[in-house]
Amino acid sequence: MREFILYSRTGRTDSRFPNLREAGRLDVVYQAILMSLFRSHGIRRDVTFHALLGGPPNPPLELMVEGETLRDARTDEKTWEDILRRVLSGREHPGITVRKNSLQHLVKEKQNIFVLEESGESINTIDLGSDPVFVLGDQVGLPRKDEEFVLRYGKKVSIGEKAYLASACICIINYILDRRESF
Ligand SMILES: C[S@@+](CC[C@H](N)C(=O)[O-])C[C@H]1O[C@@H](n2cnc3c(N)ncnc32)[C@H](O)[C@@H]1O
Repeated sequence: MREFILYSRTGRTDSRFPNLREAGRLDVVYQAILMSLFRSHGIRRDVTFHALLGGPPNPPLELMVEGETLRDARTDEKTWEDILRRVLSGREHPGITVRKNSLQHLVKEKQNIFVLEESGESINTIDLGSDPVFVLGDQVGLPRKDEEFVLRYGKKVSIGEKAYLASACICIINYILDRRESF
């Protein structure tokens, strides 16, 4: 099992938006969902993705996408704009849950937590154990006070000195874990 938690400070918490980018950068959330849950011709059934949405009008909300039960989802942005609009207006989609929750509460429910940060310990040397949970910042990064809170429960891990898109980090981590499982 793998989990990714994306902190989206501006992600809109209702369905009234013209497009994902103008929904407090829900396009960043969409890209992270894509890299978390999709392989070529398949869904990663062993991945759960969470976005903590901090934008108006009803923050904080947790959007959870579970690979095990996700259905009827293609990979294009329009599909996900429709799905996110649907679940943020209180309607259902298989494998997706929206609930009132904060990053702090979610992290307290988890174990084996790693905060992704350029300055962290290299992913090549750190012991990720089993069922790791990775926490990432959005297009701006993780706010300092939230990072300090999460670090009470986990460690900082780095995939390199350069800053990558959150979605790219997820893709790289999935690749690293896939290789470890294969060899
Ligand atoms: C687009 S980056 C944010 C960049 C922002 N300028 C900052 O300083 O945080 C989004 C998130 O990706 C993760 N990230 C980016 N590059 C990374 C790296 N080399 N190693 C580990 N995590 C990284 C961090 O969690 C970061 O908050």
